[in-house]
Amino acid sequence: MSRIRTAVLISGRGSNMMALVEAARTPGFPAKIVRVISNRPDARGLAFAAENGIATAVIDHKIYSGRHTFEAALQSALEADGIELIALAGFMRVLSPAFTARWQGRILNIHPSLLPAYKGLHTHERVLADGATRHGCTVHYVTAELDGGAIILQAEVPVLAGDTADTLAARVLKKEHRIYPQALEIVARKLQAKTST
Ligand code: GRF
Repeated sequence: MSRIRTAVLISGRGSNMMALVEAARTPGFPAKIVRVISNRPDARGLAFAAENGIATAVIDHKIYSGRHTFEAALQSALEADGIELIALAGFMRVLSPAFTARWQGRILNIHPSLLPAYKGLHTHERVLADGATRHGCTVHYVTAELDGGAIILQAEVPVLAGDTADTLAARVLKKEHRIYPQALEIVARKLQAKTST
């Protein structure tokens, strides 16, 4: 069965993208990472992708007049590669309702909290400030509602005495690297089943 053509969108370090690239090397994995796209030319993850033989592209939002033209460029790039599934991995642009509707069921994100708790930014700091005892990460479908789409997988970590935002982020990140490939596999298998019927 043909593998689902997947683009990973990043803005920075790209450690989740790396986990997806590694997983997709496993024989029989249902998704193929066709391209890594960054909206920032200086994203550190771009070098890793290139070194690992994955095509890259930079679509710098700053050179576009607004969200509409930026997303039009993104859409054209995705279509040119025949992309069927998008994995957002630390991609720091909010996508419009028109874009997310177009990719409904075919666009995923990883978020560093146990959604629906702690949508948005600075999740680790907010968890610590609240004195919460559990935290984690979520892979979810992307919809028009920020961090609000259906949940695919979650993983939990304890918040430990003495944790800082950095120690907590590191504990969560390890789980992110575990569940994002698993979620990608689940969704890609679903899409494979759809295209074969
Ligand atoms: C991760 O914590 C992810 O959950 C969040 O942004 C961070 C990206 O890290 N959306 P990386 O670029 O994948 O290393």
